[in-house]
Formats: sequence, C-alpha cells, structure tokens
Amino acid sequence: MGVPSPRVRCGPVELRLVTPRAAHQLFALARDPAVSRQLQWEPHASVDDSLTYIHDSLALWTSGRAWMPGIFDHEREQLVGCTSISGIDRTNRRAEVGTWIGTAFQGAGYNRPTKAALATFAFEHLELERLEFLTRVDNPRSVAAMRGVPGIREEGVLASRIRVGDEGHDAIMFALLAADWRAADWPDVQVDGASQGDDAG
Ligand SMILES: CC(C)(COP(=O)(O)OP(=O)(O)OC[C@H]1O[C@@H](n2cnc3c(N)ncnc32)[C@H](O)[C@@H]1OP(=O)(O)O)[C@@H](O)C(=O)NCCC(=O)NCCS
Repeated sequence: MGVPSPRVRCGPVELRLVTPRAAHQLFALARDPAVSRQLQWEPHASVDDSLTYIHDSLALWTSGRAWMPGIFDHEREQLVGCTSISGIDRTNRRAEVGTWIGTAFQGAGYNRPTKAALATFAFEHLELERLEFLTRVDNPRSVAAMRGVPGIREEGVLASRIRVGDEGHDAIMFALLAADWRAADWPDVQVDGASQGDDAG
C-alpha cells in the first residue's frame, strides 16, 4: 500500500510523510538533544520513538488534523528534518507551523524551500487563510529565519507561551496570511497527490 500523503517539492526539498522505511534516518536526527533543546519534545530514545512519530503523523493526516511531513533532500534520498501544519482549525481556517532541521543539515538552504512548500500547500490545497509560527524569543536563529519570510507579520510577544519542564518561555507570534502570500516572492513549488486519502505511492 502506498503512502496516503501529498508530495510537495521546492528546490532540493520534497515534503512527504515519513514511512517506517525511513525510521532509522529519523532516529539518527531526532536522537540529538541539540535539535529539540528549545522545542517541546524529548530526543528520541530509540527507533521505536521514531516509529511512534511516523504512526501518529499518518493518523493525524488521515483524520485531517495535521500534516507532519519529513523534509527530504530528494536527490540524495536523505531525510534532513521534519515540519508540520498542525492544529488545523477549519472554522477559522488557521493552523500552526513548526520546523526542525537536523544539526548536520542546518544552514544548508533547506529552511526557505520548506517554508515555501508548506505555505503553498496550506493556502492552495488545505484552503487555510492564516498560518501561525511561534518562536521563542531566545531562539535567535529561528527568529532571524522568520523575519526573512516574505509577507510575514510579527504580531507581538506572548508571555510564558511555551512551557518546557517547569519553565515558561516568551514567544513571538509570527503570522502569514493567504492575503499576504505572493507566489512570485518565493521559489517554484510543485504539489502532487494533494487530495487527502490519495495514494501517492
Ligand atoms: C530554525 C531552523 C529551522 C532554521 O533552519 P536553518 O537551516 O538553520 O536556517 P538558516 O541557516 O537559513 O538560518 C536562518 C537565519 O538565521 C541566521 N542565523 C544562523 N545562525 C544564527 C545565530 N546563531 N544567531 C542568529 N542568527 C543566526 C542565518 O544567517 C539566517 O538568516 P538570513 O536568512 O537572514 O540569512 C533550524 O536552525 C532548526 O531546526 N533549529 C532547531 C529547531 C528549532 O529551533 N526550530 C524552530 C522552532 S520555532
């Protein structure tokens, strides 16, 4: 059986659901504590944790609640990170976006095409109107990356919005609206198998 998920390509990047075949690649990236240090998940302790993530991603896509694809370098057939459109809220046509890239692959040009692919899919295929990106104020790399997104709105600092353990961290709310999205400002994106439940192979 194929994977019931779209494939969205931009430059070197293909976004598609991670399958069990790539569980070892996912584990190799997600076991690194440096990746999730500022995020709200623990480093994967075993391949089983990665398989759980893969299983949950498929269930969330199938139920229409989230799309949590891997970020693949399609020429190298290499998983370089993961991203997500989650908390899909059909009533308000909004969702949240999160991205992490494996340490060895950061700074290598994967982040921008990933954002372009996600936004195109969210606005043109999921018919969302607003994407939210929450970034901790003490994550300068992520803040710099967000400020470079064409059309991005910086809506303010939310106090103690992200909790890690016993500590609350202030976060900047960035938002990208479909109305502010101009495809011409972004690299080209190609979407295949976009209907939910499609067998994209
Ligand atoms: C945030 C993340 C996705 C960005 O991807 P990336 O490949 O590292 O992105 P880039 O290398 O293009 O860096 C983004 C910007 O930060 C700048 N930057 C890099 N290191 C930096 C640092 N230590 N301090 C400040 N800015 C920095 C870059 O110059 C670039 O700015 P530019 O676009 O104006 O040139 C990636 O670093 C990551 O996965 N980090 C760990 C998880 C995480 O924090 N995710 C975000 C949660 S909101």
